[in-house]
Amino acid sequence: IKLGLVFGGQSGEHEVARVSAYNVLKVIDLDKYDVVTIGITKDGRWMIYTGDWDKLPDGSWEQDTDHLRTDFSVFTDPLIQSIDLFWPMMHGPMGEDGTIQGVFEMMNKPYVGCGVLASAVGMDKVVSKILFERAGIPVVPYIYFYDRDWRKNQDGLVKDSEAQLGYPVFIKPVNMGSSVGITKAHDRVEFLAGVDNALQYDSKILIEKAVNAREVECAVLEEDGEIQTTLPGEVVASKEFYDYEAKYADDQDSKIVIPAEIDSATIAKIRAYAHDAFAAIDGAGPTRADFFVDRDTGELYINEVNTMPGFTDISMYPMMWGNMGVGYSELVERLIQTAKR
Ligand code: ADP
Ligand code: DAL
Ligand code: MG
Repeated sequence: IKLGLVFGGQSGEHEVARVSAYNVLKVIDLDKYDVVTIGITKDGRWMIYTGDWDKLPDGSWEQDTDHLRTDFSVFTDPLIQSIDLFWPMMHGPMGEDGTIQGVFEMMNKPYVGCGVLASAVGMDKVVSKILFERAGIPVVPYIYFYDRDWRKNQDGLVKDSEAQLGYPVFIKPVNMGSSVGITKAHDRVEFLAGVDNALQYDSKILIEKAVNAREVECAVLEEDGEIQTTLPGEVVASKEFYDYEAKYADDQDSKIVIPAEIDSATIAKIRAYAHDAFAAIDGAGPTRADFFVDRDTGELYINEVNTMPGFTDISMYPMMWGNMGVGYSELVERLIQTAKR
């Protein structure tokens, strides 16, 4: 079976995706799968890479010119055409948001993970929230606006946010991941700086009331129409919030607790909401649903879903399956199987 694993991508999560791809490649059954690795650089060049996979994590594969082929079109290249199924091991825009899924659809090839719409919805923190609300899953109070609204009516939007959400708030580019572009604002000065910063990543901005939160995540895997969930895990961030540094740079200081030490009623709710969130976006294959448990009120909120969750060494998705007795290589094999539709 020829498996096309596509890694990297053009988003702010390019580096994370290289590590996820490397970890997956390490455990793929090479007796069963003939793997073709296709890298996408940050500036969007597609390259068939035949070199050592050890060169993925640090990005040095891009300099390994003896093992790179760039002169191809995915729609006509004989090697690419011979691939049976694809795994877009990428995070963020142009990898996890329906765009590359659309390319696979047009190529008539099966692929691991959510389809075009579910990927796009899962990536968009506002559209997904609206679907979650409709599905009866509680979300944190929020407002959102576009770049053009901000240019026309900055003062009005600041006042709306202050009146509806107070401080502190989280300011987020709507389509992003790994905390890229996210800041926490405690006052108006930080708010203005935070919006400017988020606008560098997206023209659609989400403002959320900050919750004094425990962060609890739940892995979902759909196989043959059956949506399965794991016991949740908890992340205890080393910083004021789980930002990019805390996730990937100071990861020694952030703690992961699996299974999460929370009461069984809350665990049952989390699993039910993770299931319902997956159904609400019409997911396929893997997703990870992330929740907040408010330390002050005990209230449970869904934060977001990730339709291609991370597979780095600190990533929760494979660890939560590990806790359910599904090891890394079995999980990867089962995920590949979900692409056969
Ligand atoms: P990403 O898609 O980049 O992971 P998140 O929405 O998960 O974005 O936000 C990243 C982190 O920021 C969360 O893991 C959490 O630590 C913190 N955070 C985000 N929103 C809130 C909120 N409303 N209240 C408290 N913490 C938040
Ligand atoms: N977006 C990162 C990779 C995650 O959700 O794990
Ligand atoms: Mg997150």
